Parts: sequence; structure tokens; C-alpha cells
Amino acid sequence: MFVRPKIIVGNWKMHKTIEEAQLYIEELEPLLVDVRSDVCLAVPFTCLGTAAKLVSDCARIRVGAQNMSEHEEGAWTGEISAHMIKEAGASFVILGHSERRSHFGESNAVVNTKLTLACRTGLQSIVCVGESLGDRNKNCQKDVIALQLSESLAGFPREKSASLVLAYEPVWAIGTGKNATPEDAQAVHSFCRQILENLWDKETAQKVSILYGGSVKPENAPLLLMQQDVDGLLVGGAALNAYTFSQIIHATLTIR
Ligand code: PGA
Repeated sequence: MFVRPKIIVGNWKMHKTIEEAQLYIEELEPLLVDVRSDVCLAVPFTCLGTAAKLVSDCARIRVGAQNMSEHEEGAWTGEISAHMIKEAGASFVILGHSERRSHFGESNAVVNTKLTLACRTGLQSIVCVGESLGDRNKNCQKDVIALQLSESLAGFPREKSASLVLAYEPVWAIGTGKNATPEDAQAVHSFCRQILENLWDKETAQKVSILYGGSVKPENAPLLLMQQDVDGLLVGGAALNAYTFSQIIHATLTIR
């Protein structure tokens, strides 16, 4: 059986100056000596270059961006291209985060365009999906996620699946302190894997990592990570403090 490595991603959102990023990484690195999992920091564009240089001799930590332009180059004032992100030292990019979807109108079609571009540029993509509270109350959680997945991944070739990570982030759990239960997360993750299997094949679907995000904390991380299809965590608020984030990362040491 293919063993998927655990991936823990800290999403800083619009937090931290270059100086703060430097202090954070200097604090985090020595806390990870025993860690074998893949630790990723999704930092603001302005910190990317500095953060990438700081982690360059630490094999455990990678840095990436939280968004990128759907366009390759041109007159798109204020946008940052996949190539620029890659050149700054990023190895991955988060696409379709619910804050991008709700505040900036990022549709599945846009996520799909970005995914293709990121892959062509050599960036791994973390594609986020997740239902709102309204969807959940209407019991259409699975329909929403199935549509987000099928439209966001449309036409993406299975041969490129190694450059894809999925993140299930229920919108009602983001920044609210209310996480999905480990059982609920497992059910949705296994549903997502089934969709990947239908889209591609079982073997390919087994290799794609699916992360859970939404109010992850040191206290709930171990049980979430113990679920068979929860291959890692996407952490917002609790990743802003290096020590707290390291506690979440250490939860990976207690499981398989
Ligand atoms: P949270 O954010 O951990 O603060 O809920 C998660 C995210 O938005 O990625």
C-alpha cells in the first residue's frame, strides 16, 4: 500500500512582515529536529524570497504562496505570476482558498486555470474545497464538494497528479474555533478520494494527499491526523505562533 507522507501547512494569510517572518523561522527550525513530515509555510508574497532563503538549508521546511495570478504575464496591475512566485523560491501555491472564493470571486474555473499554470511552472498546488454552513444545513455538502472538485480539476491529467494536494476546509470551521469532527473529516476525505478515483483511477487517487483545514489546534490535531484519509493539516490562526505550530507538527510523530 502506498503510504502518503504527512504534510502540515501553515497559512499565515495577511500576517507578518519580513522581520517577523525571519524571527518565526529562526524559532521554528530548532523545534523540528525529530520531525519527518513535510512542513510548509504559505507566506505573504513580500516574505517569500527571505523565507525561501532562510529555509534553504532546512530540508524539512518548504515555503509557498497563498495565491497567484491566473495570467502568465502582462498588463495585470497588482498581480503576481506563477513564474515570479517560483523564482522567489516557492515550491507550492494555495489555490481556491475559501477567502479567495468569497472575497475575491475566485470561481472553480479560475482555480482550474491557475492549477494548469502552476503545474506548468513547476509549482505544487494545494487546491482548497469546502462547503458553507448554508450548504451543510441544506445537506448538500457532498454536491458542493463534488462540483468544486470536478470543475477545479477539469482536464488536469492524471500523470501530473503528483503536483496536486487537496485541502478540505469547511467554510464554517475556518477561524471559528469549531473544527469538523475527525469522523466527519474522514467521511469527506474519503468522498474526495472516491471522486479522484472516478476521475482517474484507484492507484492515482491513493497517492494524492488530502489535508484538513479549519480551526486546527494542538489539541485536535492528533485525532484528525489519525484518520485514514487525513494526510495532513492546513492551519491558519494556530500557525501564526511558531511554538504552537510546532506542537501541531509534533502530532505527526504520534501516528503511523
Ligand atoms: P484557521 O484557518 O486554522 O484559522 O481556521 C485555516 C485556513 O483558513 O486555512
